[in-house]
Amino acid sequence: MLFAITGGAGFVGSNLAERLLSEGHNVRIIDDLSRPGGKVVDNLNYLRKKFASEMSSKKFEFVKSSVANFEEMKKNLAGADVIYHLAAQTAVTTSIKDPVHDFATNAAGSFNVLEAARQVADNAALLYTSTNKVYGNMQNVKLDEKQTRYEFADSRYKLGISEDFHIDPESPYGCSKYAADSYFLDYHRTYGMKTVVFRCSCMYGEMQKSLEDQGWISWLVGRIINGKKITIYGDGKQIRDILHIADVTEAVSEATKKISATAGQVFNIGGGEDNSISLLELMSFVQKETGKKSLYEFADWRLADQKVYISNTEKAKKIFGWQPGISKEEGIRRQIKWESTQ
Ligand SMILES: NC(=O)c1ccc[n+]([C@@H]2O[C@H](COP(=O)([O-])OP(=O)(O)OC[C@H]3O[C@@H](n4cnc5c(N)ncnc54)[C@H](O)[C@@H]3O)[C@@H](O)[C@H]2O)c1
Repeated sequence: MLFAITGGAGFVGSNLAERLLSEGHNVRIIDDLSRPGGKVVDNLNYLRKKFASEMSSKKFEFVKSSVANFEEMKKNLAGADVIYHLAAQTAVTTSIKDPVHDFATNAAGSFNVLEAARQVADNAALLYTSTNKVYGNMQNVKLDEKQTRYEFADSRYKLGISEDFHIDPESPYGCSKYAADSYFLDYHRTYGMKTVVFRCSCMYGEMQKSLEDQGWISWLVGRIINGKKITIYGDGKQIRDILHIADVTEAVSEATKKISATAGQVFNIGGGEDNSISLLELMSFVQKETGKKSLYEFADWRLADQKVYISNTEKAKKIFGWQPGISKEEGIRRQIKWESTQ
């Protein structure tokens, strides 16, 4: 089986590639290495070293290419049995500064991947990682404010936000990701392609090359253990349901194995209520675990920053039998260990 992974040098992609190569599959990573900070190349080098013999036997290939180039995508995806489309401009803040680039990568680039797949690999299973940002700011959802966190006040959301929640993307990133999200679902309806959409919440874990505006668990943990100051945008009580990367790769793997049930479907994928945590709670947990004090200051809220987002993962459980398995405490401990080696 050949697995093609766009954005495969990135955080999710390199973890998926590692898992697939360890399982003996053939993997082709397609990435233009454009993630800001230039550090995703370290992920690629790690994989190249670990799977050197797979590289020399061409079971593992790396193609430096941008999803913005349709003709290249046709060549890159030819022969793939499974395509994971992860390549993206991933920060809301960057999308606001440069919406043209954001659109070219996330909307037009994703369309290129999908249409190229239709032309050269139309029988492939094709999974796209969308985002909870398609639900927008969710301003109409009533919240309770507690000492360290916000909570949903409405019992309808006791298990979190499900896939039928009103779509209202905010920010260029939300819009460009949603454009691709709807194309992927529609290519199942219109052309019968085996497309699956994951609307992901906050993912974290090894090989995440965090920046201040993307990958907040890794960023905060790294800053605290290195004694560096953190800026908290808002009041720090905002809640996300964090999902460890090992659970992400498991979800992707299970959804792919059960493609006859998952094709044409959208799933909210996150850590769920049990793994919800606020910035303030994360800082105090890391402080307790490491004995290092968090140094921080507050700044204004960022655009499109939901005060509470928790995924309802019941549909994923029902259709492909997946539930998060790694608790937030265990996952954050793993993150502390990882960041200490960076
Ligand atoms: N990490 C999260 O918490 C999170 C949450 C919701 C959704 N997502 C989505 O999941 C996917 C993977 O996220 P990630 O955290 O691994 O991000 P990442 O930035 O680590 O990886 C993305 C990769 O895409 C590559 N890339 C960017 N533009 C490209 C282009 N034009 N052509 C080819 N490659 C390009 C980058 O170099 C990078 O290696 C993205 O689509 C992101 O929008 C992530």
